[in-house]
Amino acid sequence: MSISKDVAKVQPSATLAMSSKTKAMIKKGVDVINLSIGEPDFTTPEQIKQAAIDAIKSGKASFYTPAGGLPELKQAVCDRIKLEDGVEYNPNQVIVTDGAKFSLFLIFQVILNEGEDVLLPEPFWVSYAEQVHLAGGNAIAVKTTGKDHKVTVADLDRSITPSTQALVINSPQNPSGLVYEADELEAIGNWAVKHDILIIADDIYSNLIFNGHKFTSIVTLGDEIKKHTLLVSGVSKTYSMTGWRIGYVLGDEKIIKIMNTVASHATGNPAAVSQYAAIEALTNDQSDAKKMRQAFEDRLNIFYPKIANLPGFDLPTKPQGAFYLFPNVKKAVSLCGFNNTEEFVNALLEEAHVAVVSGKAFSQPDNIRFSYANSKENLLEAYDRIVKFLNNHGVTVNE
Ligand SMILES: Cc1ncc(COP(=O)(O)O)c(C=O)c1O
Repeated sequence: MSISKDVAKVQPSATLAMSSKTKAMIKKGVDVINLSIGEPDFTTPEQIKQAAIDAIKSGKASFYTPAGGLPELKQAVCDRIKLEDGVEYNPNQVIVTDGAKFSLFLIFQVILNEGEDVLLPEPFWVSYAEQVHLAGGNAIAVKTTGKDHKVTVADLDRSITPSTQALVINSPQNPSGLVYEADELEAIGNWAVKHDILIIADDIYSNLIFNGHKFTSIVTLGDEIKKHTLLVSGVSKTYSMTGWRIGYVLGDEKIIKIMNTVASHATGNPAAVSQYAAIEALTNDQSDAKKMRQAFEDRLNIFYPKIANLPGFDLPTKPQGAFYLFPNVKKAVSLCGFNNTEEFVNALLEEAHVAVVSGKAFSQPDNIRFSYANSKENLLEAYDRIVKFLNNHGVTVNE
């Protein structure tokens, strides 16, 4: 039996791998605090669950839907983006997919020829690079030298190649939680327009913004920038709907149409019941989403100062969005006597029973990613365990 060369090169998702290891330990009865997973810890709000139950009971969830999603859902996506970002799209410019992850997968399948390049500012989410490889492209990691390691035009100028097709901008960012300011995005957008490069704006965390910071989508910064952008988002993070698998893309009608054709041969359509649930999420009362956002903000405000204060943990800027902290722990790793971050992360899991992800998965091997999508009690307990762990390895923490 032989396996395709391209597929054989693909790396498993490190975040999912860490999460499975953690879940296996939990199953064995070990009391692990899991800060490795990128999903809200709340269950989906009741009214959304009820809409799904109603769709099942009425029979309307029993059937195939159009490959790119129900017309009502595409309209709901346009209406929500209009309300939140103030930009107009029509339903022909929308495709609904099985999660934003599949939106991104489809985009790379549709836009890339063999050997073409996609620019990924560091740090970047695990799946972008592997999805680019699966589409036959090259993932070009862009060293970032701007404020808080955000990407600048100079960084992009240094990284562009004759085969560059696209650039991924993710704000709020996974894994750092950093949010791009409008002027930073505008400069990037104008650069992409000038070089005729497609921007893939991964706005999946757009509603998780904290402490008075403001989210700007790059599509709001001028018509030309909007035309050059595919906006990717979904319901997973805002509405605690990771298991329902609904994401979407808004942008150029021609690209959307081809994505639709590819999706029709790949998945048929996203599960009908999930689409009805997503309509409810996007169109009706947003108070549960607001409450969950507030809970993440409270947790950030508790957890950030503690983690930033740990010896050898370098995290000078408080994240403004998503639900992650991404400190550089190079010093802590060496103070504790480990050879690398992986050893540190494994020992933290095995000795302290705290699961985090090594930054290698996000192209920054000296960092670790904490997800604070967990209860305040667990976050405080995780902190106490980390303090004890550091003490056991000869590092004193001044609290
Ligand atoms: C940056 C980023 N983009 C996209 C996704 C995909 O989200 P989903 O497939 O659940 O819609 C995730 C999920 O972790 C993410 O962190």
